[in-house]
Amino acid sequence: MSSNLQDRTIVIFGGTSGIGLAAARQAQAAGARVIVVGFNAAGAERVAAENAFAGWRAADVTRPETIAAALVDIPHVDHLVLLAGTFVAGRVLDAEVDYLRRAFDERIWAAVHTLRALGDRLSRDGSVTFISGALADRPSAQGTAVLAAASAAMEALARGLALELAPVRVNTLSPGTTDTPLLARTLGAHRDAYVAALTEKLPQRRLGTADEVGAAVVFLTSNGLMNGETLHVDGGARLV
Ligand SMILES: NC(=O)c1ccc[n+]([C@@H]2O[C@H](COP(=O)([O-])OP(=O)(O)OC[C@H]3O[C@@H](n4cnc5c(N)ncnc54)[C@H](OP(=O)(O)O)[C@@H]3O)[C@@H](O)[C@H]2O)c1
Repeated sequence: MSSNLQDRTIVIFGGTSGIGLAAARQAQAAGARVIVVGFNAAGAERVAAENAFAGWRAADVTRPETIAAALVDIPHVDHLVLLAGTFVAGRVLDAEVDYLRRAFDERIWAAVHTLRALGDRLSRDGSVTFISGALADRPSAQGTAVLAAASAAMEALARGLALELAPVRVNTLSPGTTDTPLLARTLGAHRDAYVAALTEKLPQRRLGTADEVGAAVVFLTSNGLMNGETLHVDGGARLV
């Protein structure tokens, strides 16, 4: 049975920018009541007002008490989407371990703390969507081994939770490099050169858009048979 998003409550961590914001807009267009969660409170408030979202919250997903505070007054959640995160890049032999640990704190432990904070307020006919990334399948030599491991771990966590939280559906979205503010946040002045070099190698000679990847979030939440899956939305990036 497919799951209609009409009047369902969807909470999107990372819903204030990039992929999450695109997903939030499309979920709202499909009739959902959308609550976005960002790191920056002023930014979250502005984005929610601009898009007439049902609500906004601010939290730092690496701090469990802020996750709990963000969710405390939400009576129930039908669909939970966890996209908040940064590009944690550093070589295993020389980067600060506390910095590398963020890759797991923002993903695995953030998911665990968010699910525990929600408890039985997550609808049994709802869903949870995690984020991984093409790195999980194709790591690079540029200091992404730990982020690749954290991303692959999200896919494994989703499969395990699809059983542990059943009948709640749990899936992971795995995008290729997507044109969002994350690229400039991460690469700064090197963004354009990086994108030019990458797109030359990609089958479609372009990056994915936030709208294309956001649409996959809506698909995972709204298709009632998607469960325990990793959905790759990468334009074939894993093939090259
Ligand atoms: N773009 C890509 O190429 C790509 C590829 C694979 C995977 N991903 C993953 O997809 C997710 C979304 O990426 P994006 O490109 O849409 O990035 P983005 O535009 O930079 O958006 C990131 C979102 O996460 C929030 N956030 C970041 N750190 C947070 C924290 N500690 N606590 C709470 N919220 C936090 C941000 O809030 P503020 O706006 O308030 O800072 C923002 O809403 C990330 O996990 C990223 O690693 C992205």
